[in-house]
Amino acid sequence: MAYYTTLGFDREPFSTSPDPRFFYLTKEHDLALTNIMIELHLKRGLSVIFGDIGTGKTSLSRMLVQELNQRPNMLFHIVLNPVYTDEKQFLTSLIRNFDVGSQMGFDPSRLDLLELRDAFERFLIHKTLEEKQTVVLIIDEAQKLDMATLETLRVLLNFETNEFKLLQLVLLGQVELYPKVAGMPNLMDRISFRYTLNPLDAKETKELIDFRIKTAGYNSRMDVFLDEAVGEIYNYTRGYPRKITRLCHQLLKELILQNQHAIDREMVKEMIAKEEAFGFDNFNMPGSPKQGTKEQYAYGVRPFSGRGLI
Ligand SMILES: Nc1ncnc2c1ncn2[C@@H]1O[C@H](COP(=O)(O)OP(=O)(O)OP(=O)(O)O)[C@@H](O)[C@H]1O
Ligand SMILES: [Mg+2]
Repeated sequence: MAYYTTLGFDREPFSTSPDPRFFYLTKEHDLALTNIMIELHLKRGLSVIFGDIGTGKTSLSRMLVQELNQRPNMLFHIVLNPVYTDEKQFLTSLIRNFDVGSQMGFDPSRLDLLELRDAFERFLIHKTLEEKQTVVLIIDEAQKLDMATLETLRVLLNFETNEFKLLQLVLLGQVELYPKVAGMPNLMDRISFRYTLNPLDAKETKELIDFRIKTAGYNSRMDVFLDEAVGEIYNYTRGYPRKITRLCHQLLKELILQNQHAIDREMVKEMIAKEEAFGFDNFNMPGSPKQGTKEQYAYGVRPFSGRGLI
């Protein structure tokens, strides 16, 4: 029997998959999502979301996809692993994913680079001006984009009318994306909305845990996580959602093993000590900085100190 049913849940509360049902819309996530939607509506071109490892970028992109799915005038594609051998491969995959060839009557494998660009531009013009659609390309893990692909994206962003851009681009990436974009002033200039997702604060950490427990169908009046435990979870995870979900998942399993009903501070401390003693800190992934401390910024440039609009 699944561990979560033993505890009175209908579904697993702390799965690490970016399931929109379990997405807790914090003020930050809400602001980012709302602003991206406004930019798309106005066809302003480029939105960029930066965020440290595990701050919820992929989850946010799933929320965006969910929003776009409800809008018939939004034609979108999401790229999850933007790694390409060269510009031609990138454009070909774009054309395939938007199904441009069959709609415009050509075979992309027969076109050269200039023809591919030209075909994609004609597709954008047709969709946007004649069919009144908004064409959106979302790229997750955008820190993996190489300079050549970023340059191609810049060229695609040049396709525009007097009033708006023909391609709407949303990039979501870890902090390594920042120096790449900053190194291309003419791309940087084109950003119409940029935002940095920060970890949650203590209150939001508690809200996220409560939200997930409720969403998973827990309906007992007894708290599974005592407030003191949530405080300890926040202290350790510093509000990084992935670390919160991993730790909470481990704690629920421990609860069953110990045949207890509630997680208290001691149990959280023991779990953290156990993981650390084991040599592999499950909640701070190998290679990642101790986040939430000043050390985190040694690993990457802090993209923007503030949050929000430019
Ligand atoms: N707002 C949120 N509400 C609930 N869970 C969240 C939220 N944000 C993130 N999570 C959870 O945290 C984990 C990490 O989130 P996600 O994969 O979206 O982070 P990421 O920023 O894309 O990480 P990476 O930098 O490694 O790509 C997932 O398990 C996700 O479900
Ligand atoms: Mg991600």
